[in-house]
Amino acid sequence: TEPLRLGIAGLGTVGTGVVKIVRQKASLLAARAGRPVVITGVSARTRDKDRGVSLDAYAWEDDPVALARRDDVDVFVELMGGSDGPAKAATEAAIAAGKDVVTANKAMLALHGQALATAAESAGRVLRFEAAVAGGIPVVKALTEGLAGNDITRVMGVMNGTCNYILTRMQATGQGYNTLFEEADKLGYLEADPNLDVGGIDAGHKLALLSSIAFGTQVDFSAIELEGIERVTLADIRHADDMGYRIKLLGVAQMTGRGLEQRMSPCLVPADSPLGQLEGGTNMVVLEGDMVEQIVLRGPGAGEGPTASAVMSDVMDIARGCRIATFGQPASGLKPPKAARAATPAPY
Ligand code: NDP
Ligand code: HSE
Repeated sequence: TEPLRLGIAGLGTVGTGVVKIVRQKASLLAARAGRPVVITGVSARTRDKDRGVSLDAYAWEDDPVALARRDDVDVFVELMGGSDGPAKAATEAAIAAGKDVVTANKAMLALHGQALATAAESAGRVLRFEAAVAGGIPVVKALTEGLAGNDITRVMGVMNGTCNYILTRMQATGQGYNTLFEEADKLGYLEADPNLDVGGIDAGHKLALLSSIAFGTQVDFSAIELEGIERVTLADIRHADDMGYRIKLLGVAQMTGRGLEQRMSPCLVPADSPLGQLEGGTNMVVLEGDMVEQIVLRGPGAGEGPTASAVMSDVMDIARGCRIATFGQPASGLKPPKAARAATPAPY
């Protein structure tokens, strides 16, 4: 059987995690996919860096665009990050060269996902992004496949591991931002620009993607009402605690009579509720549909293993021949959203 050949661009937290899975679980993956899954080429900024895993067997490309165009690559796996620049250029090059693409890059998708998915469809390729939303939680798959027979009415949850880690550790230890930033960094949670995390922007990118899948609308990050956790103080957390509440960076997307509401902001939730008890880098996503009523997905939202796990979910789907469209329907069929800017009261 023909192997599925991966070209991996980006060998940081997530990329090395993917390399380890492909190397260490070769027989399991081959058995499950019905064909071997192999890496043929890799790319990163610095070649001679110890990444804790041997890369000797793979072709090295300094330029991710060159990797995307290689004849011995079937699937381009983009794990560099950044909404524009090399990530976007290499993704476009991969699609133009007839490759499927798997990415964890929510910043790129929130801003350019619509155009990239449409380009992939026109080229008969798939662009998949399970890892871009809520780390190890298979929430994209839950929406596009598991809930395909539902009208989705609401999507909400905690979608940034860094913010949840910082807020819960502030509460538990009384430590300030700087120490907790260092801890989150060691755990591999932070974006290359951590302002995206604490500014609520990263979580907003994820909510924009989930909204698009849930409501069949074009990705519209600019319509999200956004506030991060930078202004949350230790005193706020203590006051909330005194009243039996926790502060969480919570996102809500719901279709109302006035249009699509999308909000991401710090909210008070009861301390003894499932959301209130969400610790560390854990995420929780609540999906509501007319048939299932409500399902709750909870799990690690960031870090090497969980995120690499989600990348492999897409890789394995492609290896098995699954061609489900990125947004659960052709991107060319997504409707422009009618944004409702005046939000209704929070439902929690
Ligand atoms: P890292 O910063 O750890 O790794 C980025 C990698 O990309 C590095 O190997 C870097 O090379 C490489 N790189 C950066 N710029 C270039 C370039 N111009 N050309 C070639 N290679 C380049 O990031 P993460 O692994 O944490 O994140 C990767 C992606 O996954 C991002 O889109 C992020 O948002 C997303 N993501 C991350 C999660 C996490 O928990 N970390 C969770 C979910 C998604 P070098 O090593 O040589 O510097
Ligand atoms: N920086 C992100 C987070 C990584 O903390 O959730 C996972 O998307």
